[in-house]
Amino acid sequence: MIEFQSVTKQYQGGQPAVDQLTMSISPGSITVFVGPSGCGKTTSLRMINRMVEPTSGVITVAGKDVTSVPAPELRRSMGYVMQSSGLLPHRSVLDNIATVPRLNGVAKSDARKRAEELLDVVGLAPALGKRYPSQLSGGQQQRVGVARALAADPPVLLMDEPFSAVDPVVRDELQQELLRLQKDLAKTIVFVTHDIDEATILGDKVAVFATGGKLAQYATPEEILRAPANDFVASFVGRDRGFRHLGFTPSDGVTVHQVPTVVRGLHGSFDSDSAATGWQLVVGADGHPLGWTGPGNGGGLIPGGSLFRPGESLRRALDAALSSPSGLGVAVDSEGRVLGVVRGGEVLALIEEARQVRQAAL
Ligand SMILES: Nc1ncnc2c1ncn2[C@@H]1O[C@H](COP(=O)(O)OP(=O)(O)OP(=O)(O)O)[C@@H](O)[C@H]1O
Ligand SMILES: [Mg+2]
Repeated sequence: MIEFQSVTKQYQGGQPAVDQLTMSISPGSITVFVGPSGCGKTTSLRMINRMVEPTSGVITVAGKDVTSVPAPELRRSMGYVMQSSGLLPHRSVLDNIATVPRLNGVAKSDARKRAEELLDVVGLAPALGKRYPSQLSGGQQQRVGVARALAADPPVLLMDEPFSAVDPVVRDELQQELLRLQKDLAKTIVFVTHDIDEATILGDKVAVFATGGKLAQYATPEEILRAPANDFVASFVGRDRGFRHLGFTPSDGVTVHQVPTVVRGLHGSFDSDSAATGWQLVVGADGHPLGWTGPGNGGGLIPGGSLFRPGESLRRALDAALSSPSGLGVAVDSEGRVLGVVRGGEVLALIEEARQVRQAAL
């Protein structure tokens, strides 16, 4: 749906910012541009909606050369989310979201109604609509930025490091939110980041740019982690790539074992078997895990590690075991109720098995 054909951008007096870029972006998917600072990600993104004009080459969207569409019209047909939320400071949140529909001639009351719906879509309370951008947290502003980009319901969404200004927890939330939204919306999203983890979490395809505006590899996240095309990609993807690749290995064979549990009563006390000597998982009356009691800690509650849901990757299974004080990873069902535990050693054995299967297939 979006095609770059030998696209080069040379700003005055410099090296090419983007050098002979040829790539094809499928409709309805998330494509991530990733690479070090200054490698031409933003320039490539902005050439799609003509905020930057190429020096040479052609870009087409839905088969149409973008230079055949007047730039303002083209820009309004694509949602654009900037790194800093880019909200208008003297307009309320709702008015910010309604900006592009208003420019497109949508009646004020309709545009506001749609803006209210979008607040809900991006997970913001209705009361925030009347506030000004400076009265919101960074993460809330980013959500408003996404709502504003969605307001005109454009088929294409361009996002330039939209989540880079927020803390890791909010960032994780925003990423999951975007993936959830995309399931329903199926937009063609081009997303820029310099974080390889974010790229592999979000991207259906990932384009790794090298310094000098050259496309170093364009492939699925799984392939980039498993088989980097060259030394540049290998070093950019970094040291933990073996571990990250586990995120794409299914956990089908992993065994969920029974675990000794104690139920926490209504008043916060454990109905504990005082004779117990090993690790026991403390579970709330609703079946949710609360933590562990260990040998020799006098029955106090020790916070648990990450949780594993069967069906998730081996990376999650291993992390659940490694982050648990007992060394046993807690498995929960889709409602968050305890199913049992997974053992780190068994997960490692499955990882080795998966590697041998992959190798045999080569
Ligand atoms: N308006 C401009 N005039 C001159 N040079 C520019 C201009 N905009 C960008 N450049 C140069 O083009 C190159 C690519 O810049 P670009 O902003 O596309 O990089 P980027 O990959 O988005 O980097 P970052 O991760 O830091 O945002 C850089 O060397 C930059 O200095
Ligand atoms: Mg940039």
